[in-house]
Amino acid sequence: MRIYLLVTSFFILFISCKNNDNLVEVQIPEPEIIEEKASNFTNSNEIKSETGPFELVQLKYKFEDYAPNLDGRTMETHYSKHLLSYANKLNKIVAENKWSKKTKIEDILLNLDVNNIELRKSAGGYYNHNLFFENLAPKSDLKPSDTLTMAIDKHFGSFDAFKQKIITTASNLEGSGWTWLILNKKGDLEIVTTINNDNPLMKDALIKGTPLFNIDTWEHAYYLQFQNRKVEYLKKVFELLNWDLISKKYESL
Ligand SMILES: [Fe+2]
Repeated sequence: MRIYLLVTSFFILFISCKNNDNLVEVQIPEPEIIEEKASNFTNSNEIKSETGPFELVQLKYKFEDYAPNLDGRTMETHYSKHLLSYANKLNKIVAENKWSKKTKIEDILLNLDVNNIELRKSAGGYYNHNLFFENLAPKSDLKPSDTLTMAIDKHFGSFDAFKQKIITTASNLEGSGWTWLILNKKGDLEIVTTINNDNPLMKDALIKGTPLFNIDTWEHAYYLQFQNRKVEYLKKVFELLNWDLISKKYESL
């Protein structure tokens, strides 16, 4: 959508007064039209899940604010199509089964029957995507807190080594899935992967733990912008991690 603003020019009529009998009128310039570009993308706050308790995480930024690392079209499509779809399917299951609307998503994931494929897909897709979008912010100089930095150094050697391990792990994950930084049952930081929309909260996860952040490595997360350049996407999305939020979560556990 484009908005056209009419900018009112100051009209100045110059009148030359060489003498009172010989007035010269100067032509008035036409008002100047300036085109202002508005957002080409939907306001994320206008995207709502269908009736039910599970809502989309609210973004603090516009879809285009994550560019150039993740462009507006990629963010809008991912959020308004994929996350919304999982939220709607999950709300439908909640309604059909007459579950309490106060049920927390974490409780559903911790207790779900892993053979319930539809619930597994919907609940996992909803939780995983909400966490993913929640932890993204426009590129900045944010770094992990001192406490989280110490833990990262302890478990991975350095922040750079940690970053490289995340990117390598995610790059090596075949097919659709997620890469996670979790706090495992021993209280250690650990990088793990899950397939499809599974996550480390589920009963049959190979390594269980509390997720701190995740990276979506489904093709839909990057293909519009990066096509098959998965590693480039991983480097760019890593730069968008909101370390303030992730550090606070780590320190609250
Ligand atoms: Fe996704």
